[in-house]
Amino acid sequence: MDRKTFDKFRNIVYEKSGISLGEGKEALVMARVSKRMRVLGISGFTEYLKYVMQDETEDEIVNLLDVISTNVTSFFREPDHFEFLHNVVSEWSASGHKRFRFWSAASSSGEEPYSMAITLMETLRESKSDVKILATDISTRVLEKCKSGVYEKSKLAGVSPLILDRYFESSREGGKTFYRAKDLLKDLITFTRINLSAPSFPMQGPLDVVFCRNVMIYFDKATRAKLVAEIHRLLKKGGYLIVGHSESLMGIETDFKVIKPSIYKK
Ligand SMILES: C[S@@+](CC[C@H](N)C(=O)[O-])C[C@H]1O[C@@H](n2cnc3c(N)ncnc32)[C@H](O)[C@@H]1O
Repeated sequence: MDRKTFDKFRNIVYEKSGISLGEGKEALVMARVSKRMRVLGISGFTEYLKYVMQDETEDEIVNLLDVISTNVTSFFREPDHFEFLHNVVSEWSASGHKRFRFWSAASSSGEEPYSMAITLMETLRESKSDVKILATDISTRVLEKCKSGVYEKSKLAGVSPLILDRYFESSREGGKTFYRAKDLLKDLITFTRINLSAPSFPMQGPLDVVFCRNVMIYFDKATRAKLVAEIHRLLKKGGYLIVGHSESLMGIETDFKVIKPSIYKK
């Protein structure tokens, strides 16, 4: 891919998703875009770029973002965040709080919102609370996976048999074991597409806790600052923003207070 074509891809990806493809990402972009071009039977990058820009439905830009973005995730990734969620929700529940609203802002294929749902079910078992989790991502492909709630056994390797039994049904297909999230888990979660680089968002708030983990690393400072301000607006006073361990709000002007690395309070 020549420099000019790479810059065009870089600009369109930034404009549509806020994802900032840094220098030296040509090879990665080329490999991922080629995959999509093979599906379409298009052989040249310039031809594909034209195809993306001329598509008035914007369906192809969604497909392009699907292949560009990194969706790596896992159940109970960065486990201390789920421990924190358990502790804070226990406290709120003990003080009579019954209505809880959460947001998994870059949910990827669903491991994060399902881990939140399991944590909340386990924490609020006896309390008859009204709990809702909003799970959003820019990628329609991963959102489909979220909605299906079906995962290969290996993805749940670290989850205890008791939790698996409580919240999943297993089945065998093509010699493999799959786990399907039970409705009691799925019913807590609403899945929808939201582009985090395009605030403001359609929700009203107030939200109790927002997980916005391992996505801001792809954004430049201006996009991060806008996003953080919008999350601040949507959280209740005393609510929390949790970011990935490799991220921080350093360098961003914000009213959030640092509670510990990666956890912020409004
Ligand atoms: C590395 S995954 C993180 C998943 C999960 N939060 C975690 O920490 O395990 C990053 C996710 O961010 C999503 N993403 C990238 N740009 C986005 C944007 N502008 N708006 C919403 N989601 C975006 C990607 O599609 C991907 O699923």
